[in-house]
Amino acid sequence: MKAVVCQKWCQPSDLVLADIPRPTPAPSDVLVRVHTAALNFPDVLIIGGQYQFKPPLPFTPGFELVGTVEEVGSAVKHIEKGARVVAQCDLGGFAEYAVAPLHSVRPVPPGLDDEQAAAFPLVYQTSYFGLVYRGQLAKGETVLVHSAAGGVGLAAVQIAKALGAGKIIGTVGSDDKRAAVLASGADLVLNYQTEDFVEGVKQATGGRGADVIYDPVGGDLAEQSTKCIAFEGRLVIIGFTSGQFPTFRGNHILVKNYSVVGLHWGFYRQMNPAKIEQGWRELMELFKTGVLRPVIAARYPFDRVADAMNLLTSRRAIGKIVLHW
Ligand SMILES: NC(=O)c1ccc[n+]([C@@H]2O[C@H](COP(=O)([O-])OP(=O)(O)OC[C@H]3O[C@@H](n4cnc5c(N)ncnc54)[C@H](OP(=O)(O)O)[C@@H]3O)[C@@H](O)[C@H]2O)c1
Repeated sequence: MKAVVCQKWCQPSDLVLADIPRPTPAPSDVLVRVHTAALNFPDVLIIGGQYQFKPPLPFTPGFELVGTVEEVGSAVKHIEKGARVVAQCDLGGFAEYAVAPLHSVRPVPPGLDDEQAAAFPLVYQTSYFGLVYRGQLAKGETVLVHSAAGGVGLAAVQIAKALGAGKIIGTVGSDDKRAAVLASGADLVLNYQTEDFVEGVKQATGGRGADVIYDPVGGDLAEQSTKCIAFEGRLVIIGFTSGQFPTFRGNHILVKNYSVVGLHWGFYRQMNPAKIEQGWRELMELFKTGVLRPVIAARYPFDRVADAMNLLTSRRAIGKIVLHW
């Protein structure tokens, strides 16, 4: 089968499309024929050897996909060959066939086409866990979502809207991203490159600040955010697209009565898989509101995976980038 292969820690342009053996599912795995896969920032990090774990080389990247079930492991009973599913795999999604553990293979949320379906699992689960379980978002509260036109960002805006957040404020790095964030449910969008977002949030909240701050960017942006966080606010650390880890002052956290919490969604699979199931059920309930709809920024054939990754890191994508055969 054809697959994108990372042969060494590399840049996107060093990835190759190669013929490799088709994987065989273990007893509790499912082999899926991949129609469409979605790109995530961690794909870029992992090929560069900068992700939370370094797989042995060579490997095929790709964490999520939509496709049809080709074969099931001997212990898998309730999924049939030919079923259309979304799947999350530890690696290997950017290939004609991918193996995924049974617990991460699910029916496609109703009404989603292949591109939207492929783009759904990781960012919506991350944003749901970030806002609900780690951020403890309550109805009526103000949410500030950084990098709100990105993959996890737009998902967070839509989830906050569906959950009944009081005011949703998004930040973006360029003005052409404003419209998509507003269309996803934000009340206000601030360009953090050209505007003082701290003042903007204070003005929009009568000086109170945001109750939940959802931050995939890190660095200075995260540190500045503590100047516009509300009393008993929660700053949820999602990632570091800026490439910088923020530093927080303990005395400031104490004096202003706020919390800084992290989210590593994937770690729940190891530490509390039941929570993943609970989160998916709740997400599917929220999905019925019609508010959660993945936005597709661009689509590329797999042999242009480097262009797709470069679009992601160029900061020009609005929503998710998908790859297809
Ligand atoms: N914690 C978890 O469990 C978890 C799960 C999934 C993803 N993540 C993390 O969430 C973050 C976002 O992932 P994503 O897949 O949704 O990507 P994304 O947000 O679509 O990433 C691209 C966006 O990041 C922003 N950005 C800010 N500084 C940047 C820089 N120096 N270089 C490139 N982009 C920069 C840009 O938007 P603006 O210029 O508009 O800000 C850019 O458009 C990543 O850090 C990822 O690792 C975490």
